Amino acid sequence: MALLPILKYPHPLLEQASTAIAAWDEHLKALVTDMFETMYRAKGLGLAAIQVAVPLRVFVADVGRERRQPQVFINPRIVKQSGQIDSVEGCLSYPGFEGLVRRSARVRVEAWDLEHKKFSVNASALGARVMQHEIDHLDGILFMRKAVPGTVQAVEKKSGNAAG
Ligand code: NI
Repeated sequence: MALLPILKYPHPLLEQASTAIAAWDEHLKALVTDMFETMYRAKGLGLAAIQVAVPLRVFVADVGRERRQPQVFINPRIVKQSGQIDSVEGCLSYPGFEGLVRRSARVRVEAWDLEHKKFSVNASALGARVMQHEIDHLDGILFMRKAVPGTVQAVEKKSGNAAG
C-alpha cells in the first residue's frame, strides 16, 4: 500500500476528462487500494483517480459515519436524478476553500465493482453529493466551476463539510 500525492488546483490534469477502464487487472486493484489509503489519510469522503494523477474513470468513497463503508465505483454514470439542493462543499484538490454547489438531491448511479460486476445504488443527502462531486472529477469538472457565483471562499478551519 502506498500513500499517493493528491494533485492540487490549478494542476491541468484536474480539468481533463478521464478514460473508461477496460482492464480489470492487478494494476487496478493496487490503484484502488492506494486510493482508499490516500482518501482515509486525507479525511476525504471520496477520491477520484484523476486526483492522484491517474486519468481513469474510477473513484472511491466512504460516507459512513464510522468510516467503514468503503465503496469503489468503476466507469460510473448517473442514470437517474431528482430534486435539487444547495449545500457547501470542498475538495481535497482545492484545500482551504468551500463553496455552495447546487446538486441533485437524489441520484441513481450505475457502476462496476472490482470483480467486474455491475451494480447500482440509490443515494440521497451526503452520499448523492459525494457521488456527483466525484463523477464531476472524472469529467474534469471542479466544484468551484459550478458553485453559486460569489460563494467560494477561503475557510480557516475545515468545517467538516463534504470534501472529496
Ligand atoms: Ni474533489
